[in-house]
Amino acid sequence: MDTHTTRPGNVGNTLICLSVSFLKVCNCCSGYSAIRKYLIIAVVCFVYLFFTVHVSHTSTRQDKRPDLWTRNSVYSLKPRKTYQDPTGEEVNESLSPTRSNVVYITLKSKRHKPAIIRGTVRPKLRRKKVKVRPQGGTSQGKAKDARHDTNTADKHLGYSELDHSDYSSIRIYSERAPPWFSNDDIMAMRFLADGKITQIDEVAPPGFSSLILFKSATNHTDDADACRKCCGIVRRPLDMSEVFAFHLDRILGMNRTLPAVSRRFHSLGDGQPCPVVLWDPTLSPVVDQPSERLNWGSYQTALKYKCWHRGAIPKPEWSCTSIHHHEWSKLVVFDFLLQIYERLDKNCCGFKPRPEDTCVELGHHEECTDKDSIELTHIVHRRHDPHHLVFFNNKGYFDRDEENLDFKLLEGIKELPDQSVSVLKSQRLREKLLQSLFLDQLYWDSQGGRQGIEKLIDVIERRAKVLLTYINAHGIKVVPMNS
Ligand SMILES: *[C@@H]1O[C@H](CO)[C@@H](O)[C@H](O)[C@H]1NC(C)=O
Ligand SMILES: *[C@@H]1O[C@H](CO)[C@@H](O)[C@H](O)[C@H]1NC(C)=O
Ligand SMILES: *[C@@H]1O[C@H](CO)[C@@H](O)[C@H](O)[C@H]1NC(C)=O
Repeated sequence: MDTHTTRPGNVGNTLICLSVSFLKVCNCCSGYSAIRKYLIIAVVCFVYLFFTVHVSHTSTRQDKRPDLWTRNSVYSLKPRKTYQDPTGEEVNESLSPTRSNVVYITLKSKRHKPAIIRGTVRPKLRRKKVKVRPQGGTSQGKAKDARHDTNTADKHLGYSELDHSDYSSIRIYSERAPPWFSNDDIMAMRFLADGKITQIDEVAPPGFSSLILFKSATNHTDDADACRKCCGIVRRPLDMSEVFAFHLDRILGMNRTLPAVSRRFHSLGDGQPCPVVLWDPTLSPVVDQPSERLNWGSYQTALKYKCWHRGAIPKPEWSCTSIHHHEWSKLVVFDFLLQIYERLDKNCCGFKPRPEDTCVELGHHEECTDKDSIELTHIVHRRHDPHHLVFFNNKGYFDRDEENLDFKLLEGIKELPDQSVSVLKSQRLREKLLQSLFLDQLYWDSQGGRQGIEKLIDVIERRAKVLLTYINAHGIKVVPMNS
């Protein structure tokens, strides 16, 4: 269909062409009877009329929405193979697609019965840990040690990069990425998935346990501080929920996680895809005072005083950290949906842990009696942006039963962010997650494709329902939290 070039202005030309062909028809058919001639004329007229009406109709339609037409040209030309953007929200068009052909996914799910996730997604390797060095000692020395280990790895990686130099595992078929991603997000995802790796080190930035970092810049330095948008953290294959967490964070409008994608390394993860997370050298753990650590008691006190809310300057007895009151509300929505307990409930006091949970050491469940003194961990912010949290270490648990959800995460919280809650209420969480996670082909495939992804979404949807019920039952206020 070439309606794009046939506009009403061309109708005159069409008419001339038709007249000429009509005359030709008359000449060559001069031997036919008059009835036959009239029949032919009638057919020609009908064909002509059909084209005029049809063309002017489609032309008017496209004239009314000129930009939509150009934007959607891919969809209109190949109507059966569409990458849908069901949201209709405003999007940035300056992206270039990573794929030229188009693929169709339906965002409406036909499934009625949510699957039971237990046992199907539980990572079998949870206890198997990547070799982690003990803390202490200078990070420099450790990094040098690690470099020694990974020198052989670099060779493998160099060759694996060549394999997909012009084929991104980030699938973007149209000029628009889903609107919940910023251009920086897309650039970071592409960098993490496809960036050429020059070096892999194990480093221990101040305040963090050791991390495996890949670098993409040629500056050979052991200093993680020198890594600005050119380094990625490689996590274990069984921490793959980091990728889901990133997409969920953006869909819920929080923007608190660092971009994460899955990537395969020849030398790491036993050939399984690993989650990789953009490293930000300005990250720093939040501490109460220089020496004091953040604990449950002071956190609960701080919640009561709504630290930094409406510009209030905290008093010493409020136990405030640098973190703005609303940040905790965002954190608990996120942590509750993914059942991340390592930040607010590291001893698993709010649920029944299983032997493979990190709070259980050698079958012994850590203390919950002196709960006020239990430390909060992985509470992180950026040094230049101290009031906002960064959700770092987002290992979620999809295989936790609904009767065993950790409600301790919600303790002390009286307000939740309206933007996130409205997404949870909207009935569109599933299609947004599907559309979003589809971008990361390696993640998508590693979870068993569409079927596996839908099972994960089932879990999140059920927890969202539980959270909405909790909000009603406890009179939690849902308020705007844009900062
Ligand atoms: C779209 O991206 C361009 C380039 O990154 C940026 O300058 C512009 O502000 C963006 N527009 C919107 C609406 O996000
Ligand atoms: C690499 O080193 C040069 C010189 O020290 C510096 O100017 C540049 O910003 C560095 N590049 C990166 C990506 O760190
Ligand atoms: C998301 O967070 C980053 C880091 O703080 C910030 O640079 C960016 O502007 C934020 N994006 C949006 C859309 O708020």
